[in-house]
Amino acid sequence: MEPRKVILEDSEIPRQWYNILADLPKPLSPPLHPETHQPVGPEDLAPIFPMNIIEHEVSTQRWIDIPEEVLEKYLIWRPSPLYRARNFEKLLDAPVKIYYKHEGVSPAGSHKPNAAIPMAFYNKQFGIKRLTTETGAGQWGSALSMAAQMFGLECRVYMVRVSFDQKPYRRILMNTWGGECISSPSELTRIGRQIRADSPDTPGTLGIAISEAIEDAVTSENTRYALGSVLNHVLLYQTIIGLEAQKQMEKLGVYPDVVMGCCGGGSNFGGISLPFVKDKIEGKQVEIVGAEPTSCPTLTRGPYSYDFGDLAKMTPLLAMHTLGHDYVPAPIHAGGLRYHGIAPIVSQLLNLGLIEARAYDQLETFEAGIKWARSEGFVPAPETCHVIAAVVDEAKRAKEEGKEKSILFSWSGHGLIDLASYDAYLSGKLMPYELPEEEIQRVLKATENMPKP
Ligand SMILES: Cc1ncc(COP(=O)(O)O)c(C=O)c1O
Repeated sequence: MEPRKVILEDSEIPRQWYNILADLPKPLSPPLHPETHQPVGPEDLAPIFPMNIIEHEVSTQRWIDIPEEVLEKYLIWRPSPLYRARNFEKLLDAPVKIYYKHEGVSPAGSHKPNAAIPMAFYNKQFGIKRLTTETGAGQWGSALSMAAQMFGLECRVYMVRVSFDQKPYRRILMNTWGGECISSPSELTRIGRQIRADSPDTPGTLGIAISEAIEDAVTSENTRYALGSVLNHVLLYQTIIGLEAQKQMEKLGVYPDVVMGCCGGGSNFGGISLPFVKDKIEGKQVEIVGAEPTSCPTLTRGPYSYDFGDLAKMTPLLAMHTLGHDYVPAPIHAGGLRYHGIAPIVSQLLNLGLIEARAYDQLETFEAGIKWARSEGFVPAPETCHVIAAVVDEAKRAKEEGKEKSILFSWSGHGLIDLASYDAYLSGKLMPYELPEEEIQRVLKATENMPKP
């Protein structure tokens, strides 16, 4: 019988990350300066990121060595196990084999440390003493707090207000790892004070928290900003997920028909899928599907345009699918999926038809997450519930088509600190939410005057 799980030896951990920029059939449109709208150079980004990370952001080298210091930290929990979800398969009663890469085994409980650890390492190497960042659900903030501590850096996290209020345990986790966690919008930055004065009841957004974290970084000494998703270097560091998964699937002698991941800013989805996109570009047959919330349908309904990554328009303009930098997503429990944009790499892959995207309602995702918990045992994060809903959907399609399929997906994090959201679902307090068409029309209008990629 096929093994239930595949665990790689420490010595089998991949020693290089994969950079899709070397293989994209059409290169990305360059990021533009927020004021001049001219392409930004590395020196424009230098006040925000250290130069060694900027080099990764713009590199077109196919394989990038993982430093020994990073590998040593990765080995605390990596290589992560790959499981076959036999009980869930039984429950679905469809002709599918389901494999999942368990990223919930990291100390912070999600895939986020895969990027946090190299970022802390490269900042330390560059002589930086303090990091600032934003966090939605608190997963990224806790991962960066841990990584900063491991490399002796200070860390301040601006956490979206609605999550700060819904998820006190994530704040405590950040504090436990020595990070400072601030509810955003805050009184500590100019942009935070302005938003609090204009909209005292705002639930906050990732766009606002990013503005605060960047303002803090560029106005403080020896400080740089670390973004938890969206940018090329973040997706690069996350490819460790897909590279390990390829080795594990190879050991089983199975190549997946479908590869899936949930999408916030795109780092988890990119992490599992980019090595498979390489195969697809080289001629392999594989479907690659991203799952997002219907309340924040960036890939499925957002236009492709240049847009800012943050509310205060401090970031360069990025060519991406976007709902507009001032979009305030409904306060759904999957806080990590409430971002108005999505990685330029993921956006370009969608435009090229190399990936596709599907959107799921919060209720449907919790229903899938509960089915998962009751069959496989592990309780998924609300973000992860989105890809599980997509797996249920894919299994239904396979049954209707009478086709056998192997599905591989990234189980991006556990939900043990998100139990309040399960409580809300189980007690019938969650409502369905679909973005009204007027909102999309508003976005289309708002992006009309932006430069076109
Ligand atoms: C468990 C989990 N999965 C997925 C995501 C989505 O983020 P991204 O698309 O950047 O990987 C998050 C973000 O916080 C998360 O916490």
